[in-house]
Amino acid sequence: MDCDSIELVPYLPYILQDFHEVGSHAESLLRVINELKPDRKINVLDLGCGKGAVLCTIAEKIDSTCLGIDAIEPFIQYANKYKNQRNIKNCDFVVGDIRNLQDIKSSYDFIIMGSIGPIFESYTIAMESLKKILQDDGYILLDDGYMENGKKHAVTLEKEELFVQINKAGMYIEREYTGKDICLADEFEGQLDKIKVRCNELIEKYPEGEILFRKYIEKQEVEYSALENEITCSTMVIRKLA
Ligand SMILES: C[S@@+](CC[C@H](N)C(=O)[O-])C[C@H]1O[C@@H](n2cnc3c(N)ncnc32)[C@H](O)[C@@H]1O
Repeated sequence: MDCDSIELVPYLPYILQDFHEVGSHAESLLRVINELKPDRKINVLDLGCGKGAVLCTIAEKIDSTCLGIDAIEPFIQYANKYKNQRNIKNCDFVVGDIRNLQDIKSSYDFIIMGSIGPIFESYTIAMESLKKILQDDGYILLDDGYMENGKKHAVTLEKEELFVQINKAGMYIEREYTGKDICLADEFEGQLDKIKVRCNELIEKYPEGEILFRKYIEKQEVEYSALENEITCSTMVIRKLA
């Protein structure tokens, strides 16, 4: 759901209305947390939680207290409605900018960054900010992607550069999950079709916005193609250096 045009943001809830998961695969992240989690109730923070699909799955299946934050209000409204429909009590969703986390006083066992892209200025800056609210034995799950070393992409970093930026913040990648386990590439085509249908509806409704919506379609085509052919999708398990 990459989007770098601020004008498009108000239309994203419409464009993505057919999606419950708007980024990461909930069941995959659930599996990763189940593998890593200590044998006690855990605290989970989901940054850029979208419509809450990942966090609701975790909250339902794991003994936990969960908080999801996203900047798009209709996504948070959807997440709250969905959790209420499923009677999920251990999960809160709030609207907020995840680059400003100074009001958060809790300390988390897991912090999820699921398909949020390069929101922070760098991964060093992101990790330095998150370190303060991560338990010493906690995990950051960065579900994203990188280019193999030597290959360039407009926004996606090369693997080595990504790892270096994380190390600079006194963190390291303990392990990563790649391939079919976390990346459902066979769903990409259907997802792109749904996005195109909704953008074309918007073009009919708002002909003055045609260029904006067409550009979004083009960008999505490029991004999905990169995800399929160039980018290595990875769930990186990040911890504090001792
Ligand atoms: C591709 S979606 C992923 C959503 C969710 N993590 C998932 O995997 O289903 C990216 C999300 O990041 C959110 N986002 C982008 N910039 C943000 C910011 N500065 N603060 C909070 N949320 C942000 C967007 O609103 C969007 O919901």
